[in-house]
Amino acid sequence: MSERHEGGHGHGHHGHGELDWSVMGPVLEQEAEVSLPLYREIADWAAERSDRVPGPVVDAGSGPGVVSALLAEVFPDRAVYAVDAEEALLERAADRAHRTGLRGRLHTHRADLPGGLDALPAASLVWAGRSLHHVGDQRAGLAAFGRALVPGGHLVLLEGGLPPRTLPRELGFGRPGLESRLDAVQEEWFAGMRESLPGSVRETEDWPALLEAAGLRHVATRSFLLDLPAPATYETRAHLIAQWQRRLEHVELDAADRATADRLLDPEDRAGLYHRPDLFLLSAQTVHLAERAE
Ligand SMILES: C[S@@+](CC[C@H](N)C(=O)[O-])C[C@H]1O[C@@H](n2cnc3c(N)ncnc32)[C@H](O)[C@@H]1O
Repeated sequence: MSERHEGGHGHGHHGHGELDWSVMGPVLEQEAEVSLPLYREIADWAAERSDRVPGPVVDAGSGPGVVSALLAEVFPDRAVYAVDAEEALLERAADRAHRTGLRGRLHTHRADLPGGLDALPAASLVWAGRSLHHVGDQRAGLAAFGRALVPGGHLVLLEGGLPPRTLPRELGFGRPGLESRLDAVQEEWFAGMRESLPGSVRETEDWPALLEAAGLRHVATRSFLLDLPAPATYETRAHLIAQWQRRLEHVELDAADRATADRLLDPEDRAGLYHRPDLFLLSAQTVHLAERAE
């Protein structure tokens, strides 16, 4: 799902835009599992476009390791390091490695980015999936990702895209366009989250330019769709209900939108999220591919 929609409201939230990643563990896991078709397409694209240079694959800001395990599948001859600041999330990644028979090849490494990658062997590929925007100084983050690569190695940076859509604009009740109104709230939250990060630096989010400034050669930018049309599967619906609960829990809404929110979240309401046949998930993730030239 899109970078700016990782559940900024409700539980898992410390206040001042900071997320409690240990509470967010199951949330991130469910979201990544639902988004696996998207990540698989991106990983296949990156694998096709990157040269066969030596070195492991590093998943920088891996969270619970769903994508790390996918990377281990897509790069079967490589060790994969799931790197994150949160021990609770790395434990999930380690559990997954154990469950999926990847224990010998999927390793975890705790690091507070942008530091800590130098403790690992130089990588053939660094995957940064919506993690860089949680680093205060994103230029320093990109430079650290670049230094972590062997010459000829690639950085896969997932930043930008479009907010997800999950419901029709017209729900059949309430004022149309609730999801767009919530996007505006989320943008505010995201700005506050960035401002509250330690050492936060405001940057124009021109990722190709920032990659070049970090000494990397920008290779390509492409956006990938996650397109899960209605009717939603059980898993997708469960994920979307959880997302909507988080989005609506603490947000200030006018009386009409609050009434709509209450109907959507009511498990008994046939027009609510639990029963609607028209619930879907459509989002776009932008990916920037860059190479360490020397
Ligand atoms: C939005 S989540 C993305 C998780 C995963 N890449 C995915 O796509 O499912 C961001 C992740 O970055 C991690 N993170 C945030 N700031 C970090 C930092 N300074 N150092 C290391 N990890 C960090 C969080 O713990 C979280 O797991």
